[in-house]
Amino acid sequence: MLQQATNVNANPWEQAYLRFETPKQETRKFIRRLRALGSDHWSRESHIVELFCGRGSGLHALHRLGFTHVEGVDLSPALAAQYQGTGTIHIADCRNLPFPDASKDIAIVHGGLHHLPTLPQDLDQTLAQVKRILRPGGRLVLVEPWLTPFLRLVIFMSRQRLPRRLWPKFDALATMIEHEWTTYDQWLRHPKLILDLLQQYFEPESCSRAWGQLTFVGKRN
Ligand SMILES: C[S@@+](CC[C@H](N)C(=O)[O-])C[C@H]1O[C@@H](n2cnc3c(N)ncnc32)[C@H](O)[C@@H]1O
Repeated sequence: MLQQATNVNANPWEQAYLRFETPKQETRKFIRRLRALGSDHWSRESHIVELFCGRGSGLHALHRLGFTHVEGVDLSPALAAQYQGTGTIHIADCRNLPFPDASKDIAIVHGGLHHLPTLPQDLDQTLAQVKRILRPGGRLVLVEPWLTPFLRLVIFMSRQRLPRRLWPKFDALATMIEHEWTTYDQWLRHPKLILDLLQQYFEPESCSRAWGQLTFVGKRN
């Protein structure tokens, strides 16, 4: 179900995102990731929202894992229009979430905070909103890019012609990085600010930085 009129014209970033992985590949990736993040222990009655949900493959993953109260939020009508599941995607800005206070048990982000235009203001505002909509004891679960040696190598390779020519999936990734560079670069340059803000709003249950990704699970205190 989709909560607003849609627009099928994808911009260049969206076109690259759509060719990076198929929905099936994405859904399988998210199922593996959610299980690694502890979803086997979450109540199937949990009210879950995925922020920056894109075309909704994360919502499909949650459904496949047995969760039924699942909603998503994304700014792009064109991406949300691709979702054909039974959850609801709200076309909205994650800096101003369209949910009542203390109405969700779990908020998930599979990459999206690094698209916020202004740090620290937008991150602060988004985390404050996530805290507002979570019930006490609720969880924020997020995965975002992180500047590890592996990601430095990926960024270097993304500027080389040959790997892009040889590997279409890598070219899609490189195209996304190019088009989101301003916010991506800003995100990668502020690790301390990001970790400090996360810990200001959420009590960390786990936090790892490896293979180009920050993985954070925190409890609303
Ligand atoms: C890297 S994509 C991630 C999509 C999805 N989580 C996935 O992994 O397939 C980031 C998404 O954030 C959305 N987005 C960017 N800024 C946003 C904002 N302020 N509020 C809501 N969504 C936003 C974009 O439309 C895009 O779908």
